Amino acid sequence: MKILAIETSCDDTAIAILEAKNGKFTALSNIVSSQHIHQNYGGVFPILAKREHQTNLVPVLTQALQKAKLLKIRNSKSQSIDDRQLLEIKKILEKESGLYEFTKKFLETYEKPKVDYIAVTCGPGLEPCLWVGVNFAKALSYFWDISVIPVNHIEGHILVNFLENNLYYKKESFPKRSIRFPAISLVVSGGHTQLILVKGIGKYDIIGETRDDAAGECFDKAARILGLGYPGGPIISKIAADYRGPTPVKLPRPMMHTKDYDFSFSGLKTAVLYETKGKQLTKKYISQMCFAVQDAICDVLIKKTLNAAKDYKAKTIILGGGVSANSELRSQFEFKNKNAKIKIIYPPKELSTDNALMIAVAAYFRLKQPHFAKASRVKEKIAWQKLSVHANLRVG
Ligand code: KG4
Ligand code: ZN
Repeated sequence: MKILAIETSCDDTAIAILEAKNGKFTALSNIVSSQHIHQNYGGVFPILAKREHQTNLVPVLTQALQKAKLLKIRNSKSQSIDDRQLLEIKKILEKESGLYEFTKKFLETYEKPKVDYIAVTCGPGLEPCLWVGVNFAKALSYFWDISVIPVNHIEGHILVNFLENNLYYKKESFPKRSIRFPAISLVVSGGHTQLILVKGIGKYDIIGETRDDAAGECFDKAARILGLGYPGGPIISKIAADYRGPTPVKLPRPMMHTKDYDFSFSGLKTAVLYETKGKQLTKKYISQMCFAVQDAICDVLIKKTLNAAKDYKAKTIILGGGVSANSELRSQFEFKNKNAKIKIIYPPKELSTDNALMIAVAAYFRLKQPHFAKASRVKEKIAWQKLSVHANLRVG
């Protein structure tokens, strides 16, 4: 079975093709086009991101199919696209007029690829961005007559861990990873910070989440204050890693000792703002601040997650989302957990941040697990006409 997956929930335009055969997976392609336009603004502007997705989707699809060896020029004998079909595609993409022209050209040039399903992120995310991906999926589904599987982005971040990661690096077929339940998943990104009790694939309860900013947002806002650009996490992490020695900068650890599993990061961002006020942003000071911000975020995330894992007798901790790419977070997690016999798993870094392979994996499990569709808020494969977006979609 081959699944073509589309992800446009934020500022990455991503398309992947996953092959599942005899219980093994092969990532035939996994293309991510990150939008650099937001670097100048210190955050993502939905309308700009939507425009970029419209421009990027067709080139990314072409690249993904080519890499998967599924791109074939249309045979001159193939039936041409009739006016009725073009009209329907135009109607589907009426709010993405830029995308319509690219899509028309693409469909006129290339054959229907040999894929069995189209998966697409339908939420949560930035609504205008989600619509571009969903409408593109609708247009392809209609024209190629291939069913669509709507996918929850957060489930994607969790379930990508079910690929046997070490083998994924070899780019050959890799089996499903066996994970012991119950598990506690920390999904931590630019838009989300959630602790999720995972009782099995498709069986989730959100047990805690941020009451204001997400942890990734805190990295991004701190980077903006320090004049480091966007996204903030990777650059702060790099500067912090190069810094050796103690830092005089002291930052709070909001809600670290509360008994619940909730988070709050807006106070930390405000503390960075106050700390830096009137200070000269020298190289040394920026390094110290990066180190302090990263340390504070890691402390809170790890303490709360380990508490939850202990309270729920978790056998596994599953990390996911852009912030889980942070090397310091990973190593501090391993270190602070070394006496507890809980296995900590996280994806390869390229699969921690937004990508479409995780959407394909989640779609695969949706098809394979009968209880999955029921447990999730979105239904199993559906007719393209019924596809919609849910900007605030939740798991469980
Ligand atoms: O999952 P993701 O790619 O997109 C969302 O769903 O939001 O996460 C993006 C977030 C950004 O806030 C970015 O600054 C953060 O993940 N991030 C990192 C690292 N790489 C990305 N944060 C800390 N350390 C990193 N290495
Ligand atoms: Zn994400």
